[in-house]
Amino acid sequence: MKIFFSSFLTVLIFLQPIFSAAQRKTVDQRVDSVLRLMTLEEKIGQLNQYNDDWNATGPVTLDSTKKEQVLQGQVGSLLNCVGTLRTRTWQNIAMQSRLKIPLLFGQDVIHGYKTTFPIPLAEACSWDMDAIQLSARTAATEASASGINWTFAPMVDIARDPRWGRVMEGAGEDPYLGSKIAYARVKGFQGNKLGEVNSLMACAKHYAAYGAAIGGRDYNSVDMSDRLLWEVYLPPFKAAVEAGAATFMNSFNDINGVPATGNKYLQRDILKGKWNFKGFVVSDWGSIGEMINHGNVKNEYEAALSAITAGSDMDMESRCYKNSLPQLIKDKKISAALIDDAVKRILRKKFELGLFDDPYKFCNAEREQAALNDPAHTKIAREMAAKSIVLLKNENELLPLSKNIKTIAFIGPLVKAKKQNKGFWDVEVPGVDSNFIVSQWEGLQNKFGSNSNLLYAKGCDIEGDDKSGFAEAVNVAMQADVVILSIGERRDMSGEAKSRSNINIPGVQEDLLKELLATGKPVVVLINAGRPLVFNYTAEHAPAILYTWWLGSEAGNAIADVLFGPALGGINPSAKLPISFPRSVGQIPVYYSHFNTGRPATDDSNRNYNSSYNDLSIFPKYEFGYGLSYTSFQYSDLTLSKKKMKVNEPIEVSLRITNTGKYDGEEIVQLYLRDKVGSIVRPVQELKDFAKVKLRSGESKTIRFTIDKEKLSFYNQQLQWVAEPGDFDLMFGASSRDIRVKDSFELLN
Ligand code: GLC
Repeated sequence: MKIFFSSFLTVLIFLQPIFSAAQRKTVDQRVDSVLRLMTLEEKIGQLNQYNDDWNATGPVTLDSTKKEQVLQGQVGSLLNCVGTLRTRTWQNIAMQSRLKIPLLFGQDVIHGYKTTFPIPLAEACSWDMDAIQLSARTAATEASASGINWTFAPMVDIARDPRWGRVMEGAGEDPYLGSKIAYARVKGFQGNKLGEVNSLMACAKHYAAYGAAIGGRDYNSVDMSDRLLWEVYLPPFKAAVEAGAATFMNSFNDINGVPATGNKYLQRDILKGKWNFKGFVVSDWGSIGEMINHGNVKNEYEAALSAITAGSDMDMESRCYKNSLPQLIKDKKISAALIDDAVKRILRKKFELGLFDDPYKFCNAEREQAALNDPAHTKIAREMAAKSIVLLKNENELLPLSKNIKTIAFIGPLVKAKKQNKGFWDVEVPGVDSNFIVSQWEGLQNKFGSNSNLLYAKGCDIEGDDKSGFAEAVNVAMQADVVILSIGERRDMSGEAKSRSNINIPGVQEDLLKELLATGKPVVVLINAGRPLVFNYTAEHAPAILYTWWLGSEAGNAIADVLFGPALGGINPSAKLPISFPRSVGQIPVYYSHFNTGRPATDDSNRNYNSSYNDLSIFPKYEFGYGLSYTSFQYSDLTLSKKKMKVNEPIEVSLRITNTGKYDGEEIVQLYLRDKVGSIVRPVQELKDFAKVKLRSGESKTIRFTIDKEKLSFYNQQLQWVAEPGDFDLMFGASSRDIRVKDSFELLN
């Protein structure tokens, strides 16, 4: 009888869409109608996620029973399963299960799918929220046409330690900029609303404070005050919730001694409680089982108890839920209601995505072909890449290169590289040749004209001490009007599990630069990396430097667009650093929004008995917010509507920005505040707003900002978000150090 009844109800669920809107049940009613049919085993199945057998992003457990488990309704989602063919195959199997609950297909679509965009840290240099959102939107358009309905992105971890390889995956050191970018990326991935055929569920990760791993060592412990957690590391996650992120992913690290996966304070009190998050939390790969390694639980049984109680809804690859939740229920250690809450959160997303109405909606091969071959996507990627390139140095206006140059020597181990330009967390799309990447060599040929004199020499490898290629490189350089040297790290030297104790430019690449400079030829250096590297020799001796990160499919064209600038249809660089660049690994952590301390060293002349290193400047090599342009900008006419403000009566601020150079360009105007006295000491600067201003040569614009209570607030000792009366400094800068105009005001009682 039950079978007949459940089959009838199953049919009813799928007939829903044809009912009139008035009769159509709400999502929650539809969820409840499915939940009522489910056995405990099927409920636990929804909490279970496996890696497909095709590609892995973590330690794989060999398991030949996955297909049978899907048939039995014991799997809720697969990851690393891409393409309409393969996802359709698995969905077909799920449609043969008793209740036909569709699978979710998750993938790390971090910075593009088939079309690869710049790594997220590079995109963050654009400070261009529209461009960043469009990048994520384009990635979602491709991935959702290829069977995927869930991306494990954006990674929103604040990171202030470039030894940590995953610094490449986020938006740098600052909570304000990081929050804006988190919001833009969630909106980009999810589009107008979940359920549209080109929308992906976003996943804010890694919750929380994964980027604060001690020593920058991946997976290491995190230890910080709740106040610092709230003030610096949580804001981008809150922004993701405000953007409507469908899911969260917890992090591998323990935080203050409690693994994030089993951290009730993070997942229940804050995320699902205070922030009222209605989506679901997936564990990071195996992190539930890893609580045993942490020494926080004794075995899988205790791990499952801890994680489900703390609010981890779906178990990625640890099998603790599948193996232990049934016994925990039997032993009355947990209630069925706890399981039901997790199951309902997951089913709700499957309904919102429209998978119950059409389990194959993301599996249309024709749509896949169209989306993966849309020429508009490469144009978007090229523009995003050009906006991500940071001009660090440009002595005597060596750049942009003159179009009258006759011969260029393009030298270095990354000049003709293809896949290297993809950086870490690219997606290997089956049947798609990754050689459609435009190499730096091809980009220059496209721009400079393949018939012109473009000379090449590799010079050396990325690593190793072999200098045998130097002579050829010098010989090639001697024939050229200008030398471009492309050096850096390998793409797999940053990313997950890629922490490094030495972040110098590897090998003998800077020695090669030395030889090339000795020729007397002008040398432009391109630095390719997923993290801030240390390159003091290059910084001091090369006349021009572009930090090109890893720029993705259109790397070569974007680099050429910036090298030649507007004269040859390219662009004037406008990017600014979202993270401080240390002078040495010994200077880490170095970040702009530090406290003053009782013995502040305000410049290198007064380090004695002040907070500094005796053998190093107090300043980073390049500061947060730094980046040059081919033109110049003047800041003037700073005006405040008043100098004393009441807490609910904001100050209106305006200033004029003038393009005083000969090229049209864009300036990222940064607004910093300093709260001079607080019950908790306040940073010497905090980014509180910014504007990216486009100005033609000679043009001026007045830009306006509002200083309101929100901008003056911080978490006090009691973790209350408060604005305290007192004096504030207001600074506008082209970087956190290059302050152009400033004033002060008072917040009254
Ligand atoms: C990895 C990463 C996480 C990723 C997941 C699935 O270990 O930590 O960011 O989304 O596993 O690939």
